Amino acid sequence: MTKKIAVLPGDGIGPEIVAEASKILDCLRREFGLDVETEEALIGGAAYDAKGTPFPEETLKLAKEADAVLLGAVGGPKWEPLDYSVRPERGLLGLRAELELFANLRPAVLYPQLVAASTLKPEVVSGLDIMIIRELTGGIYFGKPRGRRVNEKGEREGFNTLIYSESEIRRIAHIAFQIAQKRNKRVCSVDKANVLECTELWREVVTEVGREYPDVQLSHMYVDNASMQLVRAPKQFDVMLTDNMFGDILSDCAAMLTGSIGMLPSASLDKNSKGMYEPIHGSAPDIAGKGIANPIATVLSLAMMLRYSFDDAASAERIEKAVIAALDAGYRTADIYSEGMKKVGTAEMGDAIVSALRSLNR
Ligand code: NAD
Ligand code: IPM
Ligand code: MN
Repeated sequence: MTKKIAVLPGDGIGPEIVAEASKILDCLRREFGLDVETEEALIGGAAYDAKGTPFPEETLKLAKEADAVLLGAVGGPKWEPLDYSVRPERGLLGLRAELELFANLRPAVLYPQLVAASTLKPEVVSGLDIMIIRELTGGIYFGKPRGRRVNEKGEREGFNTLIYSESEIRRIAHIAFQIAQKRNKRVCSVDKANVLECTELWREVVTEVGREYPDVQLSHMYVDNASMQLVRAPKQFDVMLTDNMFGDILSDCAAMLTGSIGMLPSASLDKNSKGMYEPIHGSAPDIAGKGIANPIATVLSLAMMLRYSFDDAASAERIEKAVIAALDAGYRTADIYSEGMKKVGTAEMGDAIVSALRSLNR
């Protein structure tokens, strides 16, 4: 049966990078008979401008009825003065919450072709392959109470709540252990259990779940040390399991080990592996409209969609091979450029991947 993909380009570079992923999808349809259809909808600032809300009802309806969602990015300076309730980011957070996408997979893989693009020494990063598993629908992002108020001294205060229930920790821990079983069988759970009760519980529950996976080696690390270790010796990690906020921060850091934040895809899955797929980066307002953004994170997110939601590893591998072929041919967007390579824009990189994809069919 034809699979349906909801396509939500969003803001800033969102439409530019999603256009390239759409080219890949068209090519898979035309040349490899992939049976998918797409429908676009508004999200984020684009939706606010058109409809007065960053999260229109019809977008949620489409996302719910689709088999998977492909999202570009949301946000930008234009919408920063708005109240939190209508900020573009609310659209993204709303989708994650409504679709119950609690499991966020962020693979940080350094392609050998990009060793020179990383800011770290080759011996520190070459061969890097980490999977960050970030809890996505709980923690301080969603905890209540939250808000702003004026205290008894007449001072402004802002407050958020870091809260996790045992079941929320348990289900994301199972995902991390199951993914580790298919990799190098190591999970490092990252927390701040020396200071925060909530993450003390996190450590306890992860340890309990770990007993069900005796073949997987579990370790724990405080988040401050983990951020340092990621830069010092990142290859010590296989699967990193983190809460919502630590995962947000550590995955941007891990992205840089792979050459650029423009390289890191993600999958956000519910309990049935229905999912939303998006690059981990944002709308990059500083380069939006210039046609220079790296579309690879979005293209690789599409590959994750085919693998995790459509159980189509063959198509996913085709996309990954085509990305590698484009890198092998020397194509580089500005963020991953190194001397001697061919510097190209967003659309040329997309075209190079499409042409590599086509030649797989010959
Ligand atoms: P950002 O990820 O948008 O950009 C950080 C830096 O990385 C910028 O210099 C940018 O040019 C660069 N960059 C990002 N993606 C790139 C790509 N594909 N190719 C080349 N360079 C790239 O983070 P920010 O500047 O902190 O946030 C900008 C806006 O994006 C904010 O409104 C933020 O809330 C939003 N945001 C959205 C998402 C999302 O939609 N998932 C993620 C992060 C940030
Ligand atoms: C991400 C982003 C989002 C997050 C924002 C835009 C809500 O930074 O997807 O990493 O913090 O989760
Ligand atoms: Mn982020």
